[in-house]
Amino acid sequence: MANVRQWKWADDPTINDMEQAKLVKDGLDVIETIVEKYSKEGYDSIEKTDMDRFKWAGVYQQRPKDGHFMMRVRIPSGILSSQQARALAGIARDYGRDLIDVTTRQAIQFHWLTIETIPDIFERLKAVGLSSFEACGDCPRTIVGNPLAGIDPNEVLDTRPIVKELEQFFVLNRDFSNLPRKYKMSISANVYNTGHAEINDLAFTPAKKTINGEEVIGFHVWVGGGLSAKPYLAQKLDVFCRPDEVLKVAIGVTTLFRDFGYRQKRTHARLKFLVADWGADKFKEELLKVTGPLESRGEDLTQGWKAGYFYGIHEQKQKGFYYAGLSVPVGRMSAQEFEQLADLAERYGDGTIGTCNSQNVLIRNIPADKVDAFQSEELIVNRFKLQPNTYVGYAVSCTGTEYCNLAIVETKERMRRLAEYLDRTAPQLDTPLRLHMVGCPNSCGQRQIADIGLQGALVKTENGMVDAFDIYIGGTLGENARFNKKLNGRIEAEQLGPVLAQLIGVFAEERVPGEAYWQYVDRVGVEHIQAQLDAIRSADAV
Ligand code: HEM
Ligand code: SF4
Repeated sequence: MANVRQWKWADDPTINDMEQAKLVKDGLDVIETIVEKYSKEGYDSIEKTDMDRFKWAGVYQQRPKDGHFMMRVRIPSGILSSQQARALAGIARDYGRDLIDVTTRQAIQFHWLTIETIPDIFERLKAVGLSSFEACGDCPRTIVGNPLAGIDPNEVLDTRPIVKELEQFFVLNRDFSNLPRKYKMSISANVYNTGHAEINDLAFTPAKKTINGEEVIGFHVWVGGGLSAKPYLAQKLDVFCRPDEVLKVAIGVTTLFRDFGYRQKRTHARLKFLVADWGADKFKEELLKVTGPLESRGEDLTQGWKAGYFYGIHEQKQKGFYYAGLSVPVGRMSAQEFEQLADLAERYGDGTIGTCNSQNVLIRNIPADKVDAFQSEELIVNRFKLQPNTYVGYAVSCTGTEYCNLAIVETKERMRRLAEYLDRTAPQLDTPLRLHMVGCPNSCGQRQIADIGLQGALVKTENGMVDAFDIYIGGTLGENARFNKKLNGRIEAEQLGPVLAQLIGVFAEERVPGEAYWQYVDRVGVEHIQAQLDAIRSADAV
């Protein structure tokens, strides 16, 4: 096998089975096997251990395991050209039953692919400078960031070159293709934390520092965030990093994860566990051993958190040019709709499209004299709205049982219908109320950071096991970052709409003007809302 390395953990008998498999054949080697063998010999020829390695190619088996795959395509910092968007739409149309999902990490996901089609998809992606490689697997995933980079009046510097530099360095780099677990980086210089720094393994956020009498704009460095069943918020290191030091720091942190990260249990392998054990100070000390000296922390330039939402028309850094933030309900589009977006981006903007970690999209660089016509486009008026209603506009959902093998319940279509129901029945608000739904504890839909997070489970009833949800309240990122807290009392899926409408109704009555849901939870206390839920449930039971 190509390129098998003598890693320092190679002789450790305590490492898990997946680790053993990665020593036998690196995840990246599966790309060649897919192209040379499996795509020609078919689904039944795929070996079990290679099926796990498919993730390094950005490919996962979808549910049910009957020969279809999902593929995730990296969209670094969520910026793509109309030509790339057309290529993606073409892949979805020809091979993916017309379906395109924007994910919570700004990637594009396809479903329904067969093994025979994958080499052609690799080629088509390559032809437009895109790739699915290492979009899944124990390696550096898509680098998330600011989809407005370069045009953002709220950014302190343009992060596009830095993101590009890191993507080019890390993707297909065999020094870093065997990490203990998935590894998520975020780079954003937007002062509203568009990169969701606190829930990434490594994040860079805007900062400044006076060094030798000169003011330098750069970054603060966060490590050890992540969601899933044991969520952790990232910790800020006592480090200031100049723009030209980002790669060095990223290499340093990734090296520490590779060499010191835990490889015994898959559920205890993310960087967050190492950071929690070491603490930020020791982590910094170890980092400096790899990078050499770095400046200590400067002044944080983050001013809050806008959760990756950009709805409406806004003036750019470049006077006279505007960007348009559009709503894509639960991130799902057809190939044709994505092509129509590419058309709009070309006709009104400079052809670039942004994918947002709120599962939405935006169009960049619209000159002032075209804004009115853009707003009157049928697709914008009726489908990808500039000002969506409160609930559809802020609803996020993971993939769920439709395609995910780990899911306990259906989520995406359910979240879409739930949000529409709430828009009909619950009060409209002047602040977002972010609702996130996930189908299991893995939290691909990031339920921990939602105002109201819904996590699927099953409950026993007289009629057998039925779909139900646990409700979590009060999550937010930014200065007041905290994960939401669970309310007791699992709600049957059918009751979810009415129960949430009532809870939100009380919130609308009790809130002080402009109060966000997490602020309300903070003010009144979880017990107060628990009492409301208990009252709603006992009233329903009568
Ligand atoms: C077919 C199966 C799966 C689907 C469709 C799926 C879907 C997704 C999507 C769309 C994202 C956003 C990520 C991105 O764009 O990079 C995501 C993130 C995530 N996925 Fe999955 N996923 C699947 C399997 C899994 C598995 C097997 C695990 C864990 C064992 C998992 C755990 C997570 C976690 C923890 C996150 C994000 C939370 C974080 O930032 O830590 N997923 N997934
Ligand atoms: S949260 Fe669970 S159910 Fe939803 S996509 Fe992720 S792994 Fe699947």
